[in-house]
Amino acid sequence: MKKKTVTEAIQYRRSVRIQSDKPIDKDTVKACIKNATLAPNSSNMQLWEFYHIVQQATQKKIAAACFNQPAAKTAPQLVVAVVRRDLWPQRLAALIENMRQGFEKAPARNPEKEAKALAYLENDLPKIYQSKSRWQRWKEKRQMEQKGMSGAVYREIGADDLKVIGHKSVALAAQNFMISMAEVGYDTCPMEGFDSKRVKAILDLPEEAEISMVIGCGVRATNGVYGSQFRLPLESVYFEK
Ligand SMILES: Cc1cc2nc3c(=O)[nH]c(=O)nc-3n(C[C@H](O)[C@H](O)[C@H](O)COP(=O)(O)O)c2cc1C
Repeated sequence: MKKKTVTEAIQYRRSVRIQSDKPIDKDTVKACIKNATLAPNSSNMQLWEFYHIVQQATQKKIAAACFNQPAAKTAPQLVVAVVRRDLWPQRLAALIENMRQGFEKAPARNPEKEAKALAYLENDLPKIYQSKSRWQRWKEKRQMEQKGMSGAVYREIGADDLKVIGHKSVALAAQNFMISMAEVGYDTCPMEGFDSKRVKAILDLPEEAEISMVIGCGVRATNGVYGSQFRLPLESVYFEK
């Protein structure tokens, strides 16, 4: 099969609600998940996990937690994209280790630049991710707003902001995944219509994990796409300034 260009894959991708009974190759889907992990993500913390559901019994349970909507029920495999903010200490340690190794391998060392880069990882990121009460985060956000009266500051430090930061990165990974699936002629449907508590219980995930999307995977049935793709005219969403 001729490989699709990125534009062709983007144009091929549709939210497929009814998958056919054609099987899909587990390793090909896994390779698309590998592409998902190449997505840009906040501070490269990689606070994500991808659960590839290949066992029929698990697929059925997750589909039921997605209210048995057709996009889940008809999909031979599912991918659950999860935000794992709780894993920040381990992910940060790996990032720091990788940075240190990079410094050691560099042909010329620059202690000042190295210290600055390490300080961001070792001092700034823990301040953002360490557990704090909602009240504490709210207080810090107000303080930042005061500081922001006299210059540009980073304001997204509230509890809800952290949630958004996590889901932004996972959503980018999910899009990498869906476009990679389209490239090889496979179909997907992202879903947020699910009972998150039940999905977490089925996957044996802790309370702090957040299910970002359940993605149905398969090969579209002839009636799998509901209508032609509707988008607003570009002029109503594009602004040149
Ligand atoms: C975050 C997110 C959640 C979605 N949840 C569902 C869902 O639960 N069920 C569903 O059938 N489609 C779901 N969709 C698919 C959208 O309805 C679909 O992307 C939109 O209608 C545009 O159609 P297209 O993807 O074919 O271009 C979701 C899409 C996104 C991005």
